Amino acid sequence: MDPSTVVVHAGRPARVPDAPLGESPVFSSTYIAGGDRGYGRFDNDAWAALETTLGELEGGRGLTFASGMAAAAALFDLVPVGGRVVAPQHAYSGVLGLLDQQASTGRLKVDRVDVADTAAVSAAVVGADMLWIESPTNPAMEVADVAALSAAGRAAGAVVIVDNTFATPLLQQPLKLGADVVMHSATKFIAGHSDVVLGAIVTADDNLWTSLEARRRSLGAIPGPMEAWLALRGLRTLALRLERAQSNAAFLAERLLAHPRVSRVRYPGLPDDPGHERAAAQMSGFGAILAIELGGDAGGAQRVCESTALWVHATSLGGVESMLERRRRWPAEVPTIPEDLIRLSVGIEHPDDLWSDLDQALKA
Ligand SMILES: Cc1ncc(COP(=O)(O)O)c(C=O)c1O
Repeated sequence: MDPSTVVVHAGRPARVPDAPLGESPVFSSTYIAGGDRGYGRFDNDAWAALETTLGELEGGRGLTFASGMAAAAALFDLVPVGGRVVAPQHAYSGVLGLLDQQASTGRLKVDRVDVADTAAVSAAVVGADMLWIESPTNPAMEVADVAALSAAGRAAGAVVIVDNTFATPLLQQPLKLGADVVMHSATKFIAGHSDVVLGAIVTADDNLWTSLEARRRSLGAIPGPMEAWLALRGLRTLALRLERAQSNAAFLAERLLAHPRVSRVRYPGLPDDPGHERAAAQMSGFGAILAIELGGDAGGAQRVCESTALWVHATSLGGVESMLERRRRWPAEVPTIPEDLIRLSVGIEHPDDLWSDLDQALKA
């Protein structure tokens, strides 16, 4: 079935008389002895329903975590002490910061590469233990060749992880492109309503799944039952939300390209974007995130962000509400991200309203 159907129907209880249509969160830390569950840190019906749904969408077994960062931390814990991780030059700054932290204590070594440069990544991954890919990257919007990098990583004996947060399981399925594990900040498009912090991984490798599940138990970074339930409720409408947000993003990208105050638009859906061909080959849509540069200083970009009335000036992305922010306002953002780069997370409002607010903010 098409993913837009799977996202609605996967992970539901069996259709027997009087069964509810969806799983409910179980608010219990404790289960009666004698079964498989054991304890609230090991299992919950709401996690299981979300994990089954994400697993079916990505083509593997899902595992949910307290946040995207908790999922990333469990994955980095797979790297042997002193092992080496190849990671993108540009990616979510929290993930890169965690790697730097672990490198600073000698826990692991990190090499940073331009993920759009397939030859450079393939060379760097030789002898590495893990290859971390993000595509498209946050917030530079670079596109990695997921199939080629997965093949290079696997040939080198590295575990290949793809952070699929920007693309979502509906637009890109990295496991089918050869990756070992997909990771999500489910906080974003999956939950979709800016009311949940949650993470997930999906893998078709049972040994990896088992190792990661053991880490979730022992490190304790479990999702709350209510968060998992909310995320699954949000996920049911992902196909519709994405369809609208993506068409809004394409419309805005074209308009922004022609705007006199905008010097560069980064969106893989634009035919001249450096990642366009690759994204068209490996994704079924270009997503709802774009970035613009104004060709000026930080102050001008900051003023744009502070001059919108409809667009929400906030960090995070993937909600139904359109959001924007100048990424370098965060000291932890990678210094090669331009000071005047504004990341736009396009929501599901009417495109004309989004455009007129953005246009007046750019002129302000
Ligand atoms: C691409 C990407 N990966 C991972 C994360 C971290 O996820 P979370 O905030 O759910 O811990 C984020 C958060 O912004 C992100 O954008």
